[in-house]
Amino acid sequence: MLEVQDVHLHYGAAHALRGVSLACQPGQVTCLMGRNGVGKTSLLRAIMGQHAISGGAIVWDGKPLGSSPPYDRARKGLAMVPQGREIFPLLTVGENLQTGFAGLPSSERTIPDDVFELFPILKQMLGRRGGDLSGGQQQQLAIGRAMVRRPKLLLLDEPTEGIQPSIIIQIGHAIEYLRKRGDMAILLVEQYFEFARDLADTFAVMERGEIVMAGNRADMDEDRIRANMSV
Ligand SMILES: Nc1ncnc2c1ncn2[C@@H]1O[C@H](COP(=O)(O)OP(=O)(O)OP(=O)(O)O)[C@@H](O)[C@H]1O
Ligand SMILES: [Mg+2]
Repeated sequence: MLEVQDVHLHYGAAHALRGVSLACQPGQVTCLMGRNGVGKTSLLRAIMGQHAISGGAIVWDGKPLGSSPPYDRARKGLAMVPQGREIFPLLTVGENLQTGFAGLPSSERTIPDDVFELFPILKQMLGRRGGDLSGGQQQQLAIGRAMVRRPKLLLLDEPTEGIQPSIIIQIGHAIEYLRKRGDMAILLVEQYFEFARDLADTFAVMERGEIVMAGNRADMDEDRIRANMSV
């Protein structure tokens, strides 16, 4: 389980996270919402260790992660699907998936079958270059690459951003499947209210580096949340 406790983060003098607290449990989806520039990606980067925090703590399985680097957090079971996907355009789909093997023991260097069950297009396009895929297919590839690591915490940064509706549905099914499997906590940054509401067990809404609303799915007040979203 993940606990974010009163976390602050600065970019130089800019105070991007101002005392953020949040928890993520296995078998649950936590949806993080909020307008552009409120600090959603900054929070994921803080959790993954890609940017140092300037106050508070990030606690994983009861132990503070301190200043441990991203590769150490990846080894502990944290994985991120970054905003904008960041797949390798010149590597094939298969090679992109294999980049997820980094740091895994050789016994675990296999692509789990469910990656191809959830995203059959990746099997069909295994030998094609990542850059030849559509945006939606690249998003599926980025999720598949994270699943290769068999993470215990999956951070998804706006996986539906700029993606066609038919693929959004498949991504929703994949998140639902991973939630039901129960061995993974999922933190989903999302700008589409319906997508977030359909998947969320718990939610939080950010504004200017702070969480201004949080609760269980039943507490999601559509009007109030929409007033804090860009789309
Ligand atoms: N590397 C950086 N250096 C300086 N400022 C940054 C950096 N990254 C983000 N910021 C600023 O920090 C604030 C939070 O940015 P962040 O990317 O976390 O927002 P976000 O909620 O993910 O936005 P979006 O919905 O557009 O992805 C913004 O004001 C942004 O301009
Ligand atoms: Mg962002």
